Amino acid sequence: ALERTFSIIKPDATRRNLTGAVNSYIEKAGLRIIAQKRILLTKAQAETFYAVHKERPFFGELVEFMISEPIVVQVLQGDDAVAKYREVMGATNPANAAEGTIRKDFALSVGENSAHGSDSLENAAIEIAQFFSGNEIVG
Ligand code: CMP
Repeated sequence: ALERTFSIIKPDATRRNLTGAVNSYIEKAGLRIIAQKRILLTKAQAETFYAVHKERPFFGELVEFMISEPIVVQVLQGDDAVAKYREVMGATNPANAAEGTIRKDFALSVGENSAHGSDSLENAAIEIAQFFSGNEIVG
């Protein structure tokens, strides 16, 4: 089914000037970038976005990393976009990521792993709404 998912190009990737390189993996997979902006997250935004992880030992580090430099937030649209983008990203830990995936090719570590993608259609809608208003998404 035609779906939308939410993506973040993380600070480790924007810092290394890899926005276009990551986007080429997205587009080669047949996903369309239907909204995109470069922003600097506030600490409050990062804490809200990752609230599900707030009891994890890496939460503080994750929030500090995500606000350390600009990120690029995106809405991706395509057939089975949620699962497809997770395939394109590869495993969370780049050590476990398959050949040809964004994380295998670009990620530095499990924390600095270049990309985020929604884990379900339900969360995709929640995450998209945190960063984009309806008129910023042109499918
Ligand atoms: P993401 O898909 O953005 O969702 C939660 C993030 O937490 C995950 O990607 C990782 O980048 C990060 N993460 C997961 N495990 C660890 C860890 N052990 N140390 C630091 N960051 C982690």
